[in-house]
Amino acid sequence: MKLAPSVLAADLACLRKALAAVAQAGCDYVHFDVMDGHFVPNLTFGPPLIRCARGYSELPFDVHLMVTRPRDYVEPLAGLGVKILSFHIEATHFAPRLIQSIREAGMGPAVALNPQTPAAALNDVLPLVDGVLVMSVDPGFAGQSFIETVWGKIAMLAEMRERLGLKFFIEVDGGVNTANAARLAGLGVDIVVAGKAFFIAPDQAGFASSIHAC
Ligand code: DX5
Ligand code: ZN
Repeated sequence: MKLAPSVLAADLACLRKALAAVAQAGCDYVHFDVMDGHFVPNLTFGPPLIRCARGYSELPFDVHLMVTRPRDYVEPLAGLGVKILSFHIEATHFAPRLIQSIREAGMGPAVALNPQTPAAALNDVLPLVDGVLVMSVDPGFAGQSFIETVWGKIAMLAEMRERLGLKFFIEVDGGVNTANAARLAGLGVDIVVAGKAFFIAPDQAGFASSIHAC
């Protein structure tokens, strides 16, 4: 699987150092958790910080919008090397329009869903997106435990992908570590986000290798 460390779990006052650690460990993406204090009970950062980060990283960026108005973030994030831009299905009534605008801005649209949102909520958008980001913790904070009921939903999404002949990637975000990574890979997960587990790892390159080996 590919690995996208979330800088939410790093010392954000030393973002440049965190970006260097992600690159040196051989990771695939940098995951940025944009929170607006409304969609989730936490407030992080927005496009200005991601723009600054671009000056210190050559990796593709994976931006996860946990905001009530995702459309407002598309244009400010264009041109910053954002390969994946995820918005929450719970935050929009017009997903196809938003997906199209993300594509037109040169980014790869992905749809995220909260642990309590069923996979069926994505029926109409699956053929339109590059990927699905499955939240395996309630969004808002790093360092939480993987919610067990999400296993079944991941399996269901992998089954839907197969049955519909679609190619979207499955990304799992929240509580991922070296103990549950192999099971995720076995279900067909393509990318995992790791916040706390990556940034506390004494050997971050070893952590990345073990995810890549799954
Ligand atoms: C939670 C964020 C996650 C989080 C992951 O709202 O979307 O990306 O930072 O952190 P860990 O891996 O520590 O659960
Ligand atoms: Zn995230």
